[in-house]
Amino acid sequence: MSSPSLAAASNPAVDIVRDRADLRGRVLRWRAHGARIALVPTMGALHDGHLSLIDIARARADRVVVSIFVNPTQFAPGEDFDRYPRDEAGDLARLAERGVDLAWMPAVGDMYRPDAATTVHVDRLTEGLCGPWRPGHFDGMATVVAKLLIGCGADVAVFGEKDWQQLQVIRRMVTDLDIPVEIVGAPTSREPSGLARSSRNVYLDARERSAAEALNGVLHETAAAILAAAADDGDAVAGALTRGRARLTDLGYGRVEYLDLVDAETLAPLDRPPVPGRPARLLVAARLGSTRLIDNIPVEARTTA
Ligand code: PAF
Repeated sequence: MSSPSLAAASNPAVDIVRDRADLRGRVLRWRAHGARIALVPTMGALHDGHLSLIDIARARADRVVVSIFVNPTQFAPGEDFDRYPRDEAGDLARLAERGVDLAWMPAVGDMYRPDAATTVHVDRLTEGLCGPWRPGHFDGMATVVAKLLIGCGADVAVFGEKDWQQLQVIRRMVTDLDIPVEIVGAPTSREPSGLARSSRNVYLDARERSAAEALNGVLHETAAAILAAAADDGDAVAGALTRGRARLTDLGYGRVEYLDLVDAETLAPLDRPPVPGRPARLLVAARLGSTRLIDNIPVEARTTA
């Protein structure tokens, strides 16, 4: 990828809207010409992972809108809202380079009325995994995503599989609220080491980065141990998860918030190896210094011929 300043010089600038009425006007005009419209919601600090979401959006639509909004309501108390990386100029250069049609950059005051009294809460799917560790996070996330989807009126919206729980929460919300948009999950973009790309990776120092690069390997070792066990082995899953957590501690991780095997769609915890036809997912959240890392992989039993 070329540097933002070079890209800005060689690509026409991306159009910016901040006001929802302007955005709707643009979207309605495109639609009047028969265009299919995609939205890629982001919190900015764009990296190659975001660019892969944009490429997927581009393949599925005629016009691509990228929203950039660091949503204060999805940061739990004490989280990194104030220091979350922000790079408006760099982001706009990357969007221009990718040929994005519109950058939607609302201000907090445009997104939330001061007297707002409505929050979107998605039950069940938010109870486990990140839910207990990030109080209020999923309500804030679901509320802003509902507002982004309704505000833009896109036909399709693309979200990364890196936050698997978020993706399932959004799918459930869109179904339950009858929001007329297709939700597309995009495979996690990874560095050659296997580290999932994340805006928060900039927080890692050299020692933490090397431990972070081992995280995906621990997921794969744990999944292999689970899949090697007999389907009725009640201790195999718990044992593999315990060994995986211990491995993370050995690598220098602080709090391992969870390393859990769950049903891929309902996120219900599984204590037996997955059976063919019922996809499972192995998810982890763990802290390295002040950085919280998440990752996940599919765990699927093969049908034997
Ligand atoms: O995944 C993110 O970047 C955010 O949670 C999202 C979906 C843009 C909502 O603020």
